Amino acid sequence: MKEESNANRLEPGHCGIVKLRKVGIIGLGHVGAHVLCDLVNQGIADEIVLIDIDREKAECEAMDINASMAYMPSRIKVYAGTYGDIGDADVLVNASGKISLSAASNDRTNEMRYTVAAAREIAPQVRASGFKGIFLNISNPCDVITSYMARELGLPKGRVFGTGTGLDTARLLFRLSHDSGVDARSITAYMFGEHGNAQFAPLSLVSFRGKPLAEMAKTNSKLNYSQDDISKAVIQDAWTVVSAKHCTEYGIAATAARMIKIVLGDERSIMPVSAMLEGEYGESGVFAGVPCLLGAGGVEEVCELPLTKAEWEMFHQCCESIRNNIALAEEM
Ligand code: LAC
Repeated sequence: MKEESNANRLEPGHCGIVKLRKVGIIGLGHVGAHVLCDLVNQGIADEIVLIDIDREKAECEAMDINASMAYMPSRIKVYAGTYGDIGDADVLVNASGKISLSAASNDRTNEMRYTVAAAREIAPQVRASGFKGIFLNISNPCDVITSYMARELGLPKGRVFGTGTGLDTARLLFRLSHDSGVDARSITAYMFGEHGNAQFAPLSLVSFRGKPLAEMAKTNSKLNYSQDDISKAVIQDAWTVVSAKHCTEYGIAATAARMIKIVLGDERSIMPVSAMLEGEYGESGVFAGVPCLLGAGGVEEVCELPLTKAEWEMFHQCCESIRNNIALAEEM
């Protein structure tokens, strides 16, 4: 191959003409590794930096995914790196966690003693790197760690958000799709509140491309849910998987990859994420799972939807639970 003259070669990402999509992933456990896998399989990034306290793990995750690159839709530069490598990243994902702590009691708040300590290590290194992009937190309890990282990173509003009830909503959509026979992409539904045991499904918002759930239920008794039953079933879905797999990975990775794709493509799509509330739904100063308009700036807008009085009250209970957990985290 003729040696390319350097003079003509445009250095992508630095010439101001070609902007590469750069993502950093912190924590290469089950979740982080599957986020990596989804980004590569879907060709969602051009460069991915892997950061883990176990450097050898990060290096081997890079080696392993690079062994797939020949058969992937696009060539992506994947390598183990440090915080010094992510200052110019567009998106940084926090996937640090120790699911065994949550699994012991089916309660994500029990993971805090590990994830709060991890966040206290991560935040100053991210700040020192000069990172100014979008910070997507997966680390549980998601709303608590997202709140902490938003405060510590001091990035402009909307740039720090969490996967929140995005994953739980996918579980709800699967159930609605399974029971109705309608593709999940033709259903509007959300899990609201805490990515935790206090979340709920406001059934008043469920629509099949404009046809309300109540109308659909008139000819399909499987759709005659009680809000409490379907909410509890979605909450339990996580623990059923964890009890057999000792982790969850596919759903959360797909949720994170979808959010990253929306941000990198400035799609301005609506998804439920853990976002800072400033008066929306009657709540302020707390991160909670609500539908948001996502784009290049991260959370561009919190979408306020018409909840019933009972649903407003349930959401308030969720936010109180998150505030209590944030207070617990502060004391750790
Ligand atoms: C779950 C974990 C990611 O819900 O919190 O699967």
